[in-house]
Amino acid sequence: MHKTSTYVPRIIIKCELCIMTLVTFFLFLPKNRAMLGLKLPTDPRWVNIVEKNIEEILTDHAYCEQKAASTAISLIIGFPEKSELVQEMTALAREEMAHFKMVHDRIIARGWTLGRERKDAYVLQLMKFFPKGGSRNTHLVHKLLYAALIEARSCERFRLLSENIQDQELATFYRDLMVSEANHYTMFLAFARKYGNREEVDKKWQELLVYEATIMKDLGKKETIHG
Ligand SMILES: [Fe+2]
Ligand SMILES: [Fe+2]
Repeated sequence: MHKTSTYVPRIIIKCELCIMTLVTFFLFLPKNRAMLGLKLPTDPRWVNIVEKNIEEILTDHAYCEQKAASTAISLIIGFPEKSELVQEMTALAREEMAHFKMVHDRIIARGWTLGRERKDAYVLQLMKFFPKGGSRNTHLVHKLLYAALIEARSCERFRLLSENIQDQELATFYRDLMVSEANHYTMFLAFARKYGNREEVDKKWQELLVYEATIMKDLGKKETIHG
């Protein structure tokens, strides 16, 4: 099976290697459900819904990876003067497209064809949180915080799949991806703190986490990555 390539962002090597190691370590401890800062865990019964329609979850997942690559590219286009960000987003876009290929390969191997893009109601709702307008830098910080949270929630969903799905090939696949997404979450949060005022960023992050929990109350009922 194609393994996830280990992508280690340089910003984390410099500043947050310990945090990344800890996050990865805690991911493998079943009792540490509060990791990633998420305020509301997904009901594990969501996996039972997913298992009934593997084609649907893989289709939705493929687009999540493609959108993650698009986000990385949009950050390069929007903020070309941030050299460190551009370097990391270049690597990330490649990694997310490699994830897309891994999901697409599984769709093909199972005799299916990639369907049309599914709307991600979770992401659309999440992105209503921060008010429009503000400075260019504020816009960057908000984009980075949204990206960090989407990575964190994806990571949580992948963990649930890796631990509970009956299909062993997919269980291994999601375990590998879970580690990648945890690293991305850490990287985006580190960039938000780097480019914004640390205190303000941490306050916004906490508020966003609380808001996200209100969205999640109505989710966990569909066979999509964030549904
Ligand atoms: Fe990914
Ligand atoms: Fe990611």
